[in-house]
Amino acid sequence: MTRRFTPTVVLKDNDVTDETIYTQRRKLLKQMGFLGTGALLSGGANAFGWFSDDEETAVSAPRPLDFKQNTTWGQDETLTPYEKVTQFNNFYEFGTGKEDPAKNAQNFKVDPWTLSIDGMVENPITLGYEELFSKFALEERIYRLRCVEAWSMVIPWTGFQLSHLLAMAKPLSSAKYVAFETLDSPTQMPGIRNAFVGGGLDYPYIEGLRLDEAAHPLTMMAVGVYGKTLPGQNGAPIRLVVPWKYGFKSIKSIVKITLTDKKPPTTWNQLAKQEYGFYANVNPNVDHPRWSQASERRITRGGLFKQTRIPTQLFNGYSEVAPLYANMDLTKQF
Ligand code: MTE
Repeated sequence: MTRRFTPTVVLKDNDVTDETIYTQRRKLLKQMGFLGTGALLSGGANAFGWFSDDEETAVSAPRPLDFKQNTTWGQDETLTPYEKVTQFNNFYEFGTGKEDPAKNAQNFKVDPWTLSIDGMVENPITLGYEELFSKFALEERIYRLRCVEAWSMVIPWTGFQLSHLLAMAKPLSSAKYVAFETLDSPTQMPGIRNAFVGGGLDYPYIEGLRLDEAAHPLTMMAVGVYGKTLPGQNGAPIRLVVPWKYGFKSIKSIVKITLTDKKPPTTWNQLAKQEYGFYANVNPNVDHPRWSQASERRITRGGLFKQTRIPTQLFNGYSEVAPLYANMDLTKQF
């Protein structure tokens, strides 16, 4: 389905000012009655009564996952608390406000689910809901997530390398790119039903990577966060996590992955290509046209907000991906 609306919400300068973010966070914490982290973690998402007990909604209630910890990354980082990871979100299908996804995705139904991998592959694959959790051994990885809006978090994701899924599908030698598509469900997603709620983006939300980026060992398909299945607002039941790129590349609630020889169109790039490049590699030296990318607000627990401004690192600190871009001018191909 292709719909085109005049964009009503594009990230504005003041979306990233300290004051705006600070005010939003304060409002959020106040609304939630700011419970201690311990209470939240032990009580899980239901501590907030997000999920009712009836059968239909129970499918999206986070449940514990079996996984091994991969300690290669993030061991020295302070984690962003669960309640911030799950209540300060960007998921425009559920509304453009940071608190909207947690509110509007409460009844998001993820089971049954179908994820298909097709296009230029020898072996097209279709995974059902349970297979998302059982087809590959799950591991937990702690990654930094840097949003283009100049805030960042440190998040323990549970999932598997996208390269394992790609290997199973066997890309043809002609395949050069990987295209991703989010569920398009106007009945469940108020932002798709109503352009004012969804910021006037063209839905379904679509993203893309070069095949070598998709196959990089850092690129992950996440099915969980903090050891439990993803809440709806974080992209249940399965999402992409590309830690060296701005967060908008990490597309949520994926139903389709297509191997192709053409650079796929991507949602934010289609909306404003001067502002949101296809590559979207985190880069402190390439500013967004309307704000600096030199530093970021690390969203952590407590403390004065001012204490959390830190310098942004090239590739979000994941320097092992640099060879992917060896012959590119990152100021032009941003
Ligand atoms: N995926 C879809 N389908 N729709 C979205 O609006 N927002 C992106 C990305 N994936 C988005 C999406 C943006 S801008 C960011 S920063 C991350 O999701 C945020 O992920 P989080 O809410 O889990 O922190």
